[in-house]
Amino acid sequence: MKIAIMLGTRPEIIKMWSIIHQLHEQKLDYLIIHTNQHYSPNMNDVFFQSLDLPLPHYNLHVGSDTQGKQIALMLTKIKEILEKEKPDCVMVAGDTNTVLGGALAASQLGIKIAHVEAGLRSFDSTMPEEINRILTDHLSDYLFAPTKTQEKHLIYEGVSPQKIHIVGNTVADAVLEHLKDIKKIDYLPKHSLQKQEYFLITIHRAENTDNKERLQKLLKSLEKVYQKYGETLFYPIHPRTKKRIAEFKLKIPTGVILSDPLDYFEFLQLIKDAKVVLTDSGGVQEEACILRTPCVTLRDNTERPETVEIGANIIAGTKPSKILKSIKIMMESKRDWISPFGDGNTAQKMVEIIQHDFKNKTIAPNKQE
Ligand code: UD1
Ligand code: UDP
Repeated sequence: MKIAIMLGTRPEIIKMWSIIHQLHEQKLDYLIIHTNQHYSPNMNDVFFQSLDLPLPHYNLHVGSDTQGKQIALMLTKIKEILEKEKPDCVMVAGDTNTVLGGALAASQLGIKIAHVEAGLRSFDSTMPEEINRILTDHLSDYLFAPTKTQEKHLIYEGVSPQKIHIVGNTVADAVLEHLKDIKKIDYLPKHSLQKQEYFLITIHRAENTDNKERLQKLLKSLEKVYQKYGETLFYPIHPRTKKRIAEFKLKIPTGVILSDPLDYFEFLQLIKDAKVVLTDSGGVQEEACILRTPCVTLRDNTERPETVEIGANIIAGTKPSKILKSIKIMMESKRDWISPFGDGNTAQKMVEIIQHDFKNKTIAPNKQE
């Protein structure tokens, strides 16, 4: 059995870490195909180094273009590699253009597809991520759902229950495994931060950054948070947002301290020790939940509703008054929720499921065989 792992962006490297680790430990045959959708050293290389990941076997250098061009180029290049390497299964993680590019390429060649983080839905079809994840789910043979919520969505959409496996989230594998490393170095002094005396900010989603008024409103909200609490809003800024702020000539409000994107361990510590995390990231909502730091989501919806249901997260949108109210509520939280994202063995479960099928031939052979 040979597995191809697709990587493209920062969150995919983190979500695939435990799977690559499993494949390596079990001496299974695998290859890594990196589209390089993310390519800046602090959005890419740093994660291979700190997570001690092998370098990709193929690097496609498809970064920074329109969604259409990215996916078209990825599809063409990934197909060429899959035709040559003939893997039995292609694994994709999440909802990026890389995920859809990989799934389309594999499906056109009749190769099995495993979707890590299947069944998430924001029910907002204006988001490119929602389209990517729906299409990928409907092309996949293994739908690895983090919790029962995603299983429900998939069954409602007519996906065969046999294809769905509730296994937890590999984001939890990575956080739980690296908790001890996070505790080894204290990164707070480097940024002049004190435990529980700062807010951690991330804003990068297209819906929040590509519209000048919406981005301006979000910055205004951050200003109001500083006016009310007088505590630093520490913001490792994504290159997309940095570019938009410059293009729209927006001003960074007082109290907001920008930094370049951070290394994974450094960033996890900053989540763990924050008063509240304000974010539009998917992965950060999960990590804040796992690390028991209250989260306020700067979006109108979330595809991680479990975090809201257990009291770890609030959907606040972009309006200053709603954001301030949400922060107040979350600051009163006892931080006693139980993470729904699994016990850190998600990758092991996934690899076992795929291996079992291929060993016992309980899955139809690929078209190419
Ligand atoms: C992508 C994903 C998004 C995910 C995010 C993770 C899609 C549709 N979106 O968004 O779901 O949450 O990754 O961070 O796949 N840039 C750099 N260096 C880089 C990467 C990007 O400078 O290494 C800048 C470029 O100006 C680029 C812009 O960021 O045009 C956007 O990059 P892109 O990969 O298209 O989308 P993300 O916003 O990163
Ligand atoms: N992350 C990081 N450094 C940062 C910001 C984020 O290591 O400066 C990690 C974070 O811990 C999480 C992942 O990047 O695992 C989330 O990526 P992002 O927010 O870009 O994407 P999303 O999860 O929204 O798709």
